[in-house]
Amino acid sequence: MKIAIDGPAASGKSTLGAALAEKLGYLYFDTGVMYRAVTLAVLENNIDITDPQAVLRVVQTVHIEVTPPDHVNDGRQYTVWLDGIDVTWRVRQTDIDAQVSIPSTYAEVRAELVRQQRRIGERGNVVMVGRDIGTTVFPDADLKIYLDATVEERARRRTQEMLARGQVADSMQVLNNMRERDRLDSSRVASPLRPAQDALIIDNTQSSVEEVLNALLTLIAHIQSSGANC
Ligand code: DC
Repeated sequence: MKIAIDGPAASGKSTLGAALAEKLGYLYFDTGVMYRAVTLAVLENNIDITDPQAVLRVVQTVHIEVTPPDHVNDGRQYTVWLDGIDVTWRVRQTDIDAQVSIPSTYAEVRAELVRQQRRIGERGNVVMVGRDIGTTVFPDADLKIYLDATVEERARRRTQEMLARGQVADSMQVLNNMRERDRLDSSRVASPLRPAQDALIIDNTQSSVEEVLNALLTLIAHIQSSGANC
């Protein structure tokens, strides 16, 4: 079974996706880290981020790997490796937040990352999280969820997360960055952020992860049993 979860920044996709994958015993994969790791590699190598071909060369040469957190106990859901270096928290910093939408607009970059994501999906049951999973990566997913919340609530949650990790967080700056990222993510030509036509749209501004998780587990059990009865 393939479960696609899409939605804007800080809508709760990764918390929900990881919890769902754990309950179901599925692989969890957050595609946003690939775009983040590419952005970091571009910045660290002083590559011109506005040059799609130069960014594509970075994508083709760097090695991005996402592995289980193993014994690291700092709240991470997974470990992100960029050419063998642990960049799990580095890719969450504000300079990456501010620039990650730029490489995400390049069709060639997306095509390469989508190819890698499909390969990961072939490993078996998966909960994959991102912006274009239901529309582009797995248009045939068994369940597509589009998770949303107001931009103010998402910025509030992101600010809390950053403070909890000991990062500096200016709530107005986080809100402004998020508005700008929403604009770029949904207005780009290549796979813009939007719900798939057959996605289940959930606004979780007022609900907890547990409420949404329990409702989805019931729905998934129903889909599995109707599939088994066919
Ligand atoms: O989910 P996130 O905030 O970690 O994603 C970071 C950026 O990556 C986001 O602004 C847009 C891009 N992205 C994308 O274009 N497609 C995806 N499937 C996942 C992320």
